[in-house]
Amino acid sequence: MSSTKTKRLVILASGRGSNFEAICRALKSGEIHDAQIVGLIGNKKNSGAFEVAKRYAVPAFLVESAGRAKEAYEAELLSTLRKLKPDLVCLAGYMKLLGSALIREYEGRMINIHPSLLPAFPGLAAQRQALEAGVKRTGCTVHWVTEEMDSGPIIEQASLEVLPADTVESLSERLLKLEHVTYVRALKKILAK
Ligand code: GRF
Repeated sequence: MSSTKTKRLVILASGRGSNFEAICRALKSGEIHDAQIVGLIGNKKNSGAFEVAKRYAVPAFLVESAGRAKEAYEAELLSTLRKLKPDLVCLAGYMKLLGSALIREYEGRMINIHPSLLPAFPGLAAQRQALEAGVKRTGCTVHWVTEEMDSGPIIEQASLEVLPADTVESLSERLLKLEHVTYVRALKKILAK
């Protein structure tokens, strides 16, 4: 991702938006530079991500997924993305599977964070999967998005110890903090190229 031009980031989020907020903070503090978030696209009206967008004055776009035909939702998502002209699309807790046309259009320009050490525990409830498997360490992964879910080339990973007393909640909470620093580290790495 060379050249001195300020890179245009677009964030896709469905939930509370804490990874999105970590990226906003890193931009505000100057830890990440030569980049700006030109838009947040969310698929759930009342999600925390929209509050984060308001706090950081990021233009926000709602492309609702519930109760709509997949084709109509995906067409609107793609046209919203195209208008924003992103250099990089960052999935941050985006809980909707993307269609292959969209993934192909942004392949090599779209990244995701997943709360496990991929290729272990892809898909939903990765923290629960790790606990049930009895692993002693787990972690998070930032990777390029490809058509097969949670399996594109890995950009950054970080790990932590699973404690004997861990519950899904306690493990998820520690992992989330690790996700925030790992996402920022991955972005710095990509933007430095
Ligand atoms: C994170 O655990 C992320 O890895 C997963 O969904 C969660 C999103 O959290 N895909 P937040 O919305 O960024 O707080």
